[in-house]
Amino acid sequence: MENTPKWYDAHLQDYRKVAYIKSKEEYDELYNRSINDIDRFWSEQADKYLTFEKRWDSVLKYDFNTADIEWFGGGILNASYNCLDKHVDKLKNKVAYYWEGDNPAESKVVTYLELYNEVNKFAAVLLANGVKKGDRVIIYLPMIVELPVAMLACARIGAVHGVIFGGFSAESIASRIQDCGAKIVVTVDGGFRAGKPLPLKKNVDEALTRCPEVTKVIVFKHAGMDLKLDPSKEIWWHEAMADPNLPSYVKPEPMSSEDPLFILYTSGSTGKPKGVLHTHAGYLLHAAMTNRLVFDLKDDETFWCTADIGWITGHSYTVYGPLINGFTSVLFEGVPNYPGWDRYWEIVAKRKVDKFYTAPTVIRSLAREGAGWVEKHDLSSLKLLGTVGEPINPEAWRWYYHYVGRDWCPIVDTWWQTETGGQMITPLPAVAPIKPGSCSFPFFGIDPVILDPDTGEEVKYPGQEGALFIRKPWPGMARTVFGDHQRFIDTYFSRIPGMYFTGDGAKQDEDGYFWIAGRIDDVINVSGHRLGTAEVESALVLHPDVAEAAVVGFPHPIKGQGIYAFVTLNQGVAKTDELRKGLVNLVRQQIGPIATPDAIQWADALPKTRSGKIMRRLLRKISAGQIDDLGDTTTIADPSVVDTLVKGRVVLNA
Ligand code: PRX
Repeated sequence: MENTPKWYDAHLQDYRKVAYIKSKEEYDELYNRSINDIDRFWSEQADKYLTFEKRWDSVLKYDFNTADIEWFGGGILNASYNCLDKHVDKLKNKVAYYWEGDNPAESKVVTYLELYNEVNKFAAVLLANGVKKGDRVIIYLPMIVELPVAMLACARIGAVHGVIFGGFSAESIASRIQDCGAKIVVTVDGGFRAGKPLPLKKNVDEALTRCPEVTKVIVFKHAGMDLKLDPSKEIWWHEAMADPNLPSYVKPEPMSSEDPLFILYTSGSTGKPKGVLHTHAGYLLHAAMTNRLVFDLKDDETFWCTADIGWITGHSYTVYGPLINGFTSVLFEGVPNYPGWDRYWEIVAKRKVDKFYTAPTVIRSLAREGAGWVEKHDLSSLKLLGTVGEPINPEAWRWYYHYVGRDWCPIVDTWWQTETGGQMITPLPAVAPIKPGSCSFPFFGIDPVILDPDTGEEVKYPGQEGALFIRKPWPGMARTVFGDHQRFIDTYFSRIPGMYFTGDGAKQDEDGYFWIAGRIDDVINVSGHRLGTAEVESALVLHPDVAEAAVVGFPHPIKGQGIYAFVTLNQGVAKTDELRKGLVNLVRQQIGPIATPDAIQWADALPKTRSGKIMRRLLRKISAGQIDDLGDTTTIADPSVVDTLVKGRVVLNA
């Protein structure tokens, strides 16, 4: 499809009547201003989307060599004020969230006023429990309304939230708590997934055996589990909130534009996950502006971003973006296939969702079950579809466009990252025809360039692949890695000095459309979630029987990429299925179920260069079954190793 691009523009004339940005000319003009007239353009946008207590002194100051970036310096504002107080009078009865439980019989409608009241009360609870401005608060909650409540309560008092996705293990929770130095954790007795209870509090208990510095745990009762809390440090959410002495209003803490708002951990090619830090003004502006313009969201429309809030997508497009704009969103606790494979469509029809945003991996898994599940429901409310997290393959794109989008809804394929805070390269629905698989053009303020990553030279002709860099700062970009600014510089600003390195390969076609090829570092994208190969390897080598492990990503029909581990056992250890299961469990315990290896191949030896470096390129080819195309193997120390591995390849029936 990439070579013979078909242009999709059925929606274009209709959108040109209603969209905020109505043509390529209008986009070009705004884009040029956003890059060349930074002060004026971004002042206008900040005035439009945010309310400052004190206006900024300067719009942008930066130095990419030291990775010091300041947007709206001197400004004072509060994120919770911008999400709630700013419009609570006008929108008090407007729905902020339609919450849909894992159990379809459970749902809740939360208005802006109700959300405002809950956030104020929980902010008071945090204060009463000693949380101060700048303190880090770890939040480990499922997709329930209390999750945005806890985040906004932190923001209200100036505390920094660190949300951990419910699919991470006790071990991962402990290392994040230790890394950010949190003294308080907000959690839940349990969550639900496809009707089954998940013991989230148990994971926290296990994590806290290694985190003595945590002195308070606030537990929301959601799954009705009969837990005994430790009175020395644990309190029930509902009891704390019922305290009659609690004030019903907490004044929003005045925060500087560059004060930290949250930390979100994400995997890289080396070491442990990094605590990516986002700050106030720039991040909030980027989230709000993209939410409105990319989805062309109108004030009376309902939006649904299916991502878990434990990831950046949920932070930006279920919490901050929609609330700053005063939009109505769906918040869904469950999974797409419970009780049936039509759960998403049932909710879309029930809540008359206008704009829907999900991941290609979800589309592939739904498509596999057949279009009958979609056709059972009236999806005529849908006006626009979005995707995020990984490149979308042509089959999935066509299925989404045809069955969900009625051959009319534009699909905005949004490329961005945890570190970018908001969408970076994406179609806008009335600007230009869409090419399936391409994320089209840069959003305002984003200045991408494709370079040879070794020489730093710009690629010379359309279609030539290189590495994607960003030349200038944009408001939503991360400001540092928590506690390790040098790592921030080394990871993102050192590859080619003076530019932000994305880690992705990309090309631009003759029409200027961007095409993302995927990661060019040792990061695997499993179902749109990032995992470092080094993390999985470190987990595997913890096993006393394992001598060495090498992990690579391989093409997986549903997940996009799967995890393939080559494991060398110690001399004399039997290669049993039991050991294989034990290793899978070890990874799940160390990182979480999202890192479950899809295949483990016993490798008596790994292919290495003469200097002892594992040749991952070869391992990737072997895992993908591309054995006729192994490339140059002359540098390998012992070529016979490769033949043995090729013969022992694990073939999966996904
Ligand atoms: O490789 C790119 C891929 O996901 C990576 C970022 O992952 P994460 O920080 O977990 O954030 C995911 C959600 C924003 C990128 O480096 N990626 C994300 N969106 C796309 C994509 N690849 C291709 N097309 C996309 N639309």
